[in-house]
Amino acid sequence: MSVPKAELHLHIEGTLEPELAFALAERNGAELPFASVQELHDAYRFEDLQSFLDLYYRLTDVLRTERDFTELAEAYLVRASAAGVRHAEIFFDPQAHTSRGVPFATVIDGLWAALRDSERRYGISTKLILCFLRDLSAESALETLSAAEPYLDRIVAVGLDSAEVGHPPAKFAAVYRRARELGLRAVAHAGEEGPASYVAEALDVLGVERIDHGIRVLEDPALVERLVRERIPLTVCPFSNVRLRVIDKLTDHPLRLMLELGLVATVNSDDPAYFGGYVQENLDGVRDALGLSDEHLRTLARNSFEASFIDERTRARYLGEVEAYRF
Ligand code: ADE
Ligand code: ZN
Repeated sequence: MSVPKAELHLHIEGTLEPELAFALAERNGAELPFASVQELHDAYRFEDLQSFLDLYYRLTDVLRTERDFTELAEAYLVRASAAGVRHAEIFFDPQAHTSRGVPFATVIDGLWAALRDSERRYGISTKLILCFLRDLSAESALETLSAAEPYLDRIVAVGLDSAEVGHPPAKFAAVYRRARELGLRAVAHAGEEGPASYVAEALDVLGVERIDHGIRVLEDPALVERLVRERIPLTVCPFSNVRLRVIDKLTDHPLRLMLELGLVATVNSDDPAYFGGYVQENLDGVRDALGLSDEHLRTLARNSFEASFIDERTRARYLGEVEAYRF
């Protein structure tokens, strides 16, 4: 058994394994520009965030029906359950689908069929986070939020993802204001490839409660101090950072430093089908590469529940499981 944990930075589209991509392509009559599963695997070499996103969006074309989205989410839950994930807050990118003519309802109904009963079937409580693609317009984000309004009971928060540089958080001030009026919580990717100033802007202009990635905050000591003081969590994704060349190699990863500075850092998998591992592999990887102790690992697990959008009773129960865990 591995330590109980919450996963807070996981793009459901990023769990599309090559085998499932090929199976769905065949079922749906979709063309994939790869001759075999192996050839697709071999394409998982990225120069930067954009080169990854190009493949990620290309492969979403195989996701067309409710059943496809249900199977995608079920496959993730099976893996997460085996890895000790007790709670997952799952990103989805509706515009990656609506832009191809797949209705919003197909996406959310398909995902929901897997998630609504996830606690009983997989032992994992789940919540959905609707992400806006920041390289599309602010108007498109507002239209997406409108499409989501009939489904707000299935969505806990809004997020912001896709190509970061050149698309600062402030571009989305209006849609975040509207989301908060609707009672949604708020997170945003910031400080992955973009500068530390995007992290401050996400906090100050969008009112986010948690930062996705955020590793470039280390370039701004005053901002680090603020995040420590305000206990703003960071959902860090070590394998992603290496694969997208945000850092050179895992032994250079600043996660241990982040913990030792008192940042509320958590470990997550981002797009595990593309980056070489799910959350437990990420944890094992940083433990070995950075020499993390059992207490570091317990802190990471504790942070994951502290940072999650669960009710206080559930949080206390999960934190109790973390304290009782024997490494
Ligand atoms: N969409 C999926 N994964 C992402 C990441 N790591 N950064 C930005 N957008 C993403
Ligand atoms: Zn991400």
